[in-house]
Order: sequence, then structure tokens, then C-alpha cells
Amino acid sequence: MSGSDQPFGVRIRGTGSCVPSRLLTNDDLSKMVDTSDEWIYQRTGIRERRICDPTNEGTFTMARDALKNALEAAEMKGSDLDLIIVATVTAEMTCPSTAARVGAALGAVPAAAFDLSAACSGFVYGMNVAQALIKSGQFRNIGVIGSESMSSIIDYTDRTVSILFGDSAGAAILSRDPDPRIGCLYQTMGSDGSGWDSLYIPRRAQEVPKSDADNPIRLGNLRMNGKEVFRFAVTKFREVIEDAMTKTNLTPESVGQVICHQSNVRIIDSAREKLGLPKEKLYINIDRFGNSSAGSVGLCLDQLWRAGKIEKERPFMMVAFGGGLTWASGVWRI
Ligand code: ACO
Repeated sequence: MSGSDQPFGVRIRGTGSCVPSRLLTNDDLSKMVDTSDEWIYQRTGIRERRICDPTNEGTFTMARDALKNALEAAEMKGSDLDLIIVATVTAEMTCPSTAARVGAALGAVPAAAFDLSAACSGFVYGMNVAQALIKSGQFRNIGVIGSESMSSIIDYTDRTVSILFGDSAGAAILSRDPDPRIGCLYQTMGSDGSGWDSLYIPRRAQEVPKSDADNPIRLGNLRMNGKEVFRFAVTKFREVIEDAMTKTNLTPESVGQVICHQSNVRIIDSAREKLGLPKEKLYINIDRFGNSSAGSVGLCLDQLWRAGKIEKERPFMMVAFGGGLTWASGVWRI
């Protein structure tokens, strides 16, 4: 989808992020389950991750603080926003939306607000939806947040999932801009619900497929078929990046940063090698923050943005896959 025929563009006015202060290292996990720093690092590239203190931190507080940082960077106030989107699968409450609470906390009333559920693809879905709404002429300033307290849905007695995930939030402010050349040059969003049971959070026993009935992970916590997700992700990452580069006439030399969802360093490396992308164009922070689902791409974007690594001359790309199964990409010029 190209928006170059529209009379205005979409500017990323500011970015923000928030990570909780508690550190959970691989050595900490090895005291809780039968695992080791060596196993986790070799299989995933993760050394440590941040997790919320559940007494005063969570998806809502991280979302609020990430958006607050983004508003400060954009030199805007909450009241300037006309829509807030929070991508999450770990909302403390299903009603009200996390987005409505964030709006109230930051003075954005009466901005529209909704949560979006696309698991790890959530932030890229949110950016794509927001830019399309701005292009439609209906909205001018939108706050997009991916926020995830994965620690609230992890059974820490299970070593197959507990080692992967961490908590974080990332945010961006998008605004209508008179320059039609800037904004999203191309985007995709997709899903294949037939693979839903590779990655799911069942609340009721009747939702659990027979094949997974003996899974000891408690109801309400994340279950994952790591091998299935790995297979899907390796292929999907490569396909989605290749498609976006072809459609925008970008090459490994001309593209800027390719911001991948931080799922597992082996998944990212495999896509990078097959596509011939230089190492310095695929940012990695999974070693310090683990896989924080919808928080991950927004956190990377904010860290790269603040480090001056998102260049005006080179379009950058965001790519993610996740539960659903879902996937999404977006190519942006700033
Ligand atoms: N510590 C030590 N040993 C372990 C651990 C652990 N934490 N977990 C499993 N093992 C053992 C297994 O029991 C198995 O032992 P065996 O050979 O004696 O049977 C062995 O290690 C290998 O296990 P595998 O499951 O084959 O390990 P694999 O190489 O597939 O790595 C992993 C597992 C890291 C989970 C990998 O499959 C993966 O990263 N998958 C993708 C996950 C992902 O990206 N999920 C997020 C999706 S995004 C979202 O929407 C949330």
C-alpha cells in the first residue's frame, strides 16, 4: 500500500520507551528451573531481561511512561492527541482499555482510545493502522504504544517459555505533515489463525487442544510450541523483509535500519544471512531485554532514534511476527 498520492505525509514526531528496573538474569532463572546461562545464551542470545514489580508496575504504567517520554521528545502535550492505540496481550484489565487509562493519565481526554491484540506484531500493526488513519484525513496526532508485562503471564516453573520473555514498552507519536514524501512507504499485515495453538494463553480448560492437555503450564499463562514458532518465524521474517525491499526498490545497501522483533537472535541472524543484510543494519537488544512481545519493536525504535541511527536519507523498516499467528512490516521515510 503506497500513500504517495495523498496530499500530506505522516511524521514520526517523537519516540519514547520504558523498561522496569528489576533485572532477571539467566543465573537467576537457573536457580528457579533446570537451565543455565550457557544454554539460554546459545539458543536465544539472551543474557538478562527486565521484569515488573507487580506491586506498582505493569502494562499500564509502562505504556503511560513510554508515551509520556514520546510526548516530551515531540514537544507535545497529551491534549494534542486525538487517538491513542496500545498494542498488548497483557492488559491488566480487558475493560477499560489500557489506552483509555493512558489517555486519562496524560490529559488526552477526549481522544479516542483502543487496545490492539496482535501479540508481538502489535506495535507494527499499530503504526500501520495509525498512519492509515492519518492518511484518511480523520486524525492528526496519534500516540502508538506497544506495552507488555510478559512476566504477568509466565509460569516461572516452566523452563521452555520463562527463559525467553521480558517486560517493556515503546511508543511513537505520529502526526499529519505537509510533506507528502515522508511517512510509511509500504506496509503489510497478515495472519494465519490455523496456527493459533503454537502460541496461546488459554483462560479455560475447554480451549486447550487435546494434543496439549498434559501441558503443566497453568491456565492464564503463555504456552508455546517453540519449534513450530521458530520454523514459522525463520521463513516469515525472510519473506516479509524481501517483499518490503522489492516493493520499495530497496537493496541491502540502500535500506536503513531493519528493526526486527527481538524473538531470538538465531531467527534474526538467519534472516539477515539469507538476505545479505549487513550486521550493523539489524539492531539487537535481546541480550539485555529478552523478548518483550509488543514492547520490543517500539523499544528498539526509541533506542535507535535517540542514538541518531534513523537516517533521513535511508528508509528504515520495522518487521514483526507473533501469536495469532500474525506478521507485519512497515517501511518508513522520516
Ligand atoms: N534450559 C535447558 N534445557 C532446555 C531448556 C532450558 N530452558 N528448554 C528446553 N531444554 C532442553 C529440552 O528439554 C531439549 O532436551 P532433549 O534434547 O534432551 O529433549 C533440548 O533442550 C532442546 O530443546 P528444544 O525445544 O529443541 O530447543 P530449541 O533449540 O528449539 O530452542 C527455543 C528452544 C529457544 C524456545 C526456540 O525453539 C525458540 O526460540 N523458538 C521461537 C520462540 C519465539 O520466538 N517465541 C516468541 C514468538 S513471538 C510472540 O508472539 C510472543
